Amino acid sequence: MLVLGIETTCDETAAAVVEWQGDGPGKILSNVVLSQINEHAMFGGVVPEIAARAHVEALDGVIAKALSDAGRTLERIDGIAAAAGPGLIGGVIVGLTTAKAIALVSERPLVAVNHLEAHALTARLTDGTPFPYCLFLASGGHTQIVAVRGVGDYVRLGTTIDDAIGEAFDKTAKLLGLGYPGGPQVEIEAARGDPNRFNLPRPMAGRKDADFSLSGLKTALRLEAEKIAPLSDQDVADLCASFQRAVTDVVMDRLRAGLALFHDHYGAPRALVAAGGVAANQAIRKVLHRIAFEAGTVLVAPPLELCTDNGAMIAWAGAERLALGLTDTLDTSPRARWPLDNVSAHAAPAAATARRRV
Ligand code: KG4
Ligand code: ZN
Repeated sequence: MLVLGIETTCDETAAAVVEWQGDGPGKILSNVVLSQINEHAMFGGVVPEIAARAHVEALDGVIAKALSDAGRTLERIDGIAAAAGPGLIGGVIVGLTTAKAIALVSERPLVAVNHLEAHALTARLTDGTPFPYCLFLASGGHTQIVAVRGVGDYVRLGTTIDDAIGEAFDKTAKLLGLGYPGGPQVEIEAARGDPNRFNLPRPMAGRKDADFSLSGLKTALRLEAEKIAPLSDQDVADLCASFQRAVTDVVMDRLRAGLALFHDHYGAPRALVAAGGVAANQAIRKVLHRIAFEAGTVLVAPPLELCTDNGAMIAWAGAERLALGLTDTLDTSPRARWPLDNVSAHAAPAAATARRRV
């Protein structure tokens, strides 16, 4: 089964063609990602109106390239999937409306995919990871620990009560005068800094729940920076290293709590799965390996280009849903907010078991 996937929820205009072959990993026939980073860089963050307009201008060409890279015409495609949220609503409207138009003219089923669900299922595209597994999703907009028990069966074990981890990296970078997006810049600076120079807090450490809080850490960093301003290059590197060390400690502590909750409710996870742009960070990846080892499971960390936003993950989630007979109607609404545990598998006869909670 071949599915075309469209992603426009943030600042990447992306489309891909993916083949679903039953059990086991899928096959990516094409994966076109057009980043809008240059359009937003001068503002230090994503500007929703600019993003929506850029999606309108780029999307047709990106889809055409995805089809031609895959060597397939629309006649060969079995379903059209688009991220229908959560995300910046202008962009979501562009992607979902385009997908509806294509589905209508090509007489193919539409699958409205939850963007977070697509991140959650990527490990099955790349590695065929069996259910249930524990997902650590950390991006610019989300920080969540999720029990992934089946398609449409997600239980959120922990989330951030304020900033997302990627957002904290981005804000730290902005504060220190580094470029956008901040995560990679902070990681580069951290590599030549002293992680022990500044004593930053580890918010939520030791709590039994698996929630995160990042805003206090960001504020503590700002106060330390203000104390020693003006900052030398070494100060910036030391601040970045101390911040990154604090974040990795927080991730370690919160994931331990999340995996303990997973064990209590669902037994041993078949894997710890990393998703979202923050998983690109090598120090965080190291921690994830360690945590997975401690929990007696394996770490599945999809390649970088599939951890960050892309069309292949949308196409794959669409294919997984389509395989279960889950399709959506043309009056499906775009959604700015759409928590992962509100995703259902309602259209299929198997829904009752797929949605079962313990
Ligand atoms: O998943 P993603 O591409 O987009 C969404 O937010 O949905 O994640 C982007 C986020 C940004 O906040 C970026 O700063 C962060 O991931 N990021 C990193 C690194 N690379 C990207 N954070 C820390 N270290 C990195 N190397
Ligand atoms: Zn994302």
